[in-house]
Amino acid sequence: MNDTILRWAGNKNKIAHEIFQKTGIKPEQFNNFYEPFCGALGATLNLLNNGYLQNKQVYLNDKNAEIINLYSNLRTNLRNILNEYALFNNSEADYYTIRNEDKLPSFGSRTPYYKNARTIYLNSLCFNGLYRVNPKNQFNVPYGDPKSKKNIHDITKLQNIQNFAQTIQPFNFSAIDYVSFIQQAKPGDLIYCDPPYVPLDNKDSFDGYLGKFDMNEQCKLRNLLLQKYHEGCHVIISNSYCQRSIDLYQQDFNITDIDVRRSISAKAAGRIMQKEIIAYKLH
Ligand SMILES: C[S@@+](CC[C@H](N)C(=O)[O-])C[C@H]1O[C@@H](n2cnc3c(N)ncnc32)[C@H](O)[C@@H]1O
Repeated sequence: MNDTILRWAGNKNKIAHEIFQKTGIKPEQFNNFYEPFCGALGATLNLLNNGYLQNKQVYLNDKNAEIINLYSNLRTNLRNILNEYALFNNSEADYYTIRNEDKLPSFGSRTPYYKNARTIYLNSLCFNGLYRVNPKNQFNVPYGDPKSKKNIHDITKLQNIQNFAQTIQPFNFSAIDYVSFIQQAKPGDLIYCDPPYVPLDNKDSFDGYLGKFDMNEQCKLRNLLLQKYHEGCHVIISNSYCQRSIDLYQQDFNITDIDVRRSISAKAAGRIMQKEIIAYKLH
C-alpha cells in the first residue's frame, strides 16, 4: 500500500477511489491523469492503490513550491534528505528553532536537502498538519502537541518515506497556477480537482493555503473545467457540501455527494462525518 508522507488538510488518502466509483469512471475510459491541486498526494496514491492509474502518465501540480520541491528531490536525492532529517529531534524548543530559521538571512544558504528535510520535520510536528505562511512566506504554524512523545525517527516513518520516494518516480510534477496546468490536458485525459474548498461559514474567501481562493476563483475554475470538458477531457471535482458549491456546479455538471470522516482535533475522539460534493462530467 502506497501512503502519503505529509499530513495535509483535506487529504483524500482514504476516499478518492470512492469518489471515482460514485462517478462511474473506469480506468480504461481515460488516457492521462491531471491533478492541479495535488497537495500531499493523498488522492493520487489512493487512486494508484485502487488500480485507477496503472500504465498512465500522471501529471501532478500544486502552487505550493515547497512540497513540489520536496517530491522532486526525494526522487533523486533521498539519501541526502534522510541524512539531514536524522539530525532533527522532537522537542518543542527544537521545533521553534527550526521553524524560525526561515526568518534568518543564513537560511538562504542552507542546502535544498536540508530545506526538504525541514519540511517533513515541521509537517510531522506542527499543529494538525496545517500549512500556513505569513505574508513574508515564513512558516508560522505552532508546535502540535507539547505532551506528544512522537518518535520522528520511527522505522515505519523512514520506510514510508523510502517507499514514497520510489512510488513517485514516474510522476510528472509542477508548481504553477492551476489555470496554466489544466490548459495542458488533452482530449481523453481526466482532470481531478480537489481545490481549496468553498467555506461553509459564508465567508468570502479561503485563506488557509498560499494565497486566496475566493468565489471568483471558484467560478474561474468551474468555467475552465467546462471548457476542458467541451475540448474532450473528463472532469471530476470535489468541494464542500453547501449551497454555494451546489450553485456553482448544478447547472452544467452531474452532482453527487459522499460522507467523509474528518479530524477536528489531533485526538481520535475529535472526528466527525462531513458531506462533500462531487461534481463530474464524463464523455
Ligand atoms: C484540499 S488540498 C488538496 C489535497 C490533496 N487532494 C490530497 O489528497 O492530498 C488543496 C491544495 O490546493 C493548493 N492550491 C491552492 N491554490 C492553488 C492554485 N491557485 N493553484 C494550484 N494549487 C493551489 C494548495 O496548496 C493545497 O495543497
